[in-house]
Amino acid sequence: MGYEMEQSVNVKNVGLRGVTVADTKISFIDGEKGVLLYRGYRIEQLAQDSSFMEVAYLILNGRLPNKSELMEFDALVKNERLLPDYVYEILNAYPKNAAPMDVLQSAVTSLAMSDPDLFEETRDAHIRMAIRLIARIPVLAAAWHRIRKGLEPLPSDEGLSHAANFLWQLHGAKPDEEMARDLDTCLVLHADHTFNASTFACREVVSTKAHMYAGVSAGIGALSGSLHGGANAKVMKMLMELESENDIAGWIKSQLDGGGKIMGMGHAVYKTMDPRARFLKDMAARLGRKTGQERWHILSTEIERLGIEAFRKKGKTDILPNVDFYSAPVYHIMGIPLDLMTPIFAISRVTGWCAHIIEEKFAEAQDKPALYRPKAEYVGQYCGLSGCTYEPLESRADLGDSLDGTFF
Ligand SMILES: CC(C)(COP(=O)(O)OP(=O)(O)OC[C@H]1O[C@@H](n2cnc3c(N)ncnc32)[C@H](O)[C@@H]1OP(=O)(O)O)[C@@H](O)C(=O)NCCC(=O)NCCS
Repeated sequence: MGYEMEQSVNVKNVGLRGVTVADTKISFIDGEKGVLLYRGYRIEQLAQDSSFMEVAYLILNGRLPNKSELMEFDALVKNERLLPDYVYEILNAYPKNAAPMDVLQSAVTSLAMSDPDLFEETRDAHIRMAIRLIARIPVLAAAWHRIRKGLEPLPSDEGLSHAANFLWQLHGAKPDEEMARDLDTCLVLHADHTFNASTFACREVVSTKAHMYAGVSAGIGALSGSLHGGANAKVMKMLMELESENDIAGWIKSQLDGGGKIMGMGHAVYKTMDPRARFLKDMAARLGRKTGQERWHILSTEIERLGIEAFRKKGKTDILPNVDFYSAPVYHIMGIPLDLMTPIFAISRVTGWCAHIIEEKFAEAQDKPALYRPKAEYVGQYCGLSGCTYEPLESRADLGDSLDGTFF
């Protein structure tokens, strides 16, 4: 008899779907209606009318900045772009085939070691650390890309916006204004998304009173997975592997019949079109036309159409493109290598992570636990509360090749 059978029935919620674990004032999603709000503002309006710096200020501080506040914030971020010398030394020492998300995760941890505010438990110190992280994650991603190609990292250009400077430090060429503006919009769209896996990882880590960089590093780790931020690179890989539109129907069938996934489709919260995907779909079409790369948009829209049809046949009516589906062709057209697509997600999402870490640490009167500590149902070996009989090493039977993973 298992332990759980001796207990009263536990309510189990696999994957914490639909479980409310804290209050937040940062963002809001209505998954049925396809609405995303940052601090009360519609994502569509922010994407249309604001900039990433404005949104970063909004998310961190809770209200929109006025002109002088925005200028000051922008200057503070620009002023923190330089990485300490030892971080460049570390980057130079990494194997050149290291995955950029792994490099980011470990380099962020190394940045913690010289942050003067690291152990200062005040809100102001955390805002300063957030500004440093927002400033430096794009610099790290671009520097790593150049180092792995045997090139020197480039100094930042104070005259360029956050997005434009990233493209400059990555490619070594000044981006055209429209492309920089489009990347800025992508950063706006990815900046926060309530209690997604990486944000929850950040909050869970700092609920132990660990510092902000420990939280952000956990967030990067969680984001790297293909069911979360890693999906955008998988989407692009899928698009590249498809030779023509004629291959799509057969590919979808074999994928779904074999229990595989169509990356970039489906969402744990949205049961209608992800509002960010709608925006990115238009952007992918426009950029495709502008650069003569319509191919990606044609393939994507056909996968969307046939994918929805195939899911419907299986009785799944709400699996639609998510944010990663159309961001992949957008980034590809911008010249972003496959494995730097997820780091771009991190370049933006670090804003939300930092705001959530600050909320976790400093928000007053929040309905949240001091330390997250869910339960698990024990389904392993059980011989009663007095424990199983411990056989001395010498008298244990030889079980041959039985260590085949079945115990795990
Ligand atoms: C994001 C994701 C993990 C959400 O999963 P979820 O919470 O289980 O979503 P749902 O409850 O709507 O899934 C319902 C069913 O459809 C399946 N499904 C969902 N998205 C799917 C996809 N893209 N491809 C194939 N099957 C999918 C689920 O496996 C589940 O199947 P089941 O009922 O046989 O167990 C899932 O949609 C997925 O894996 N998508 C692809 C990866 C991706 O794009 N991630 C980025 C998210 S922003």
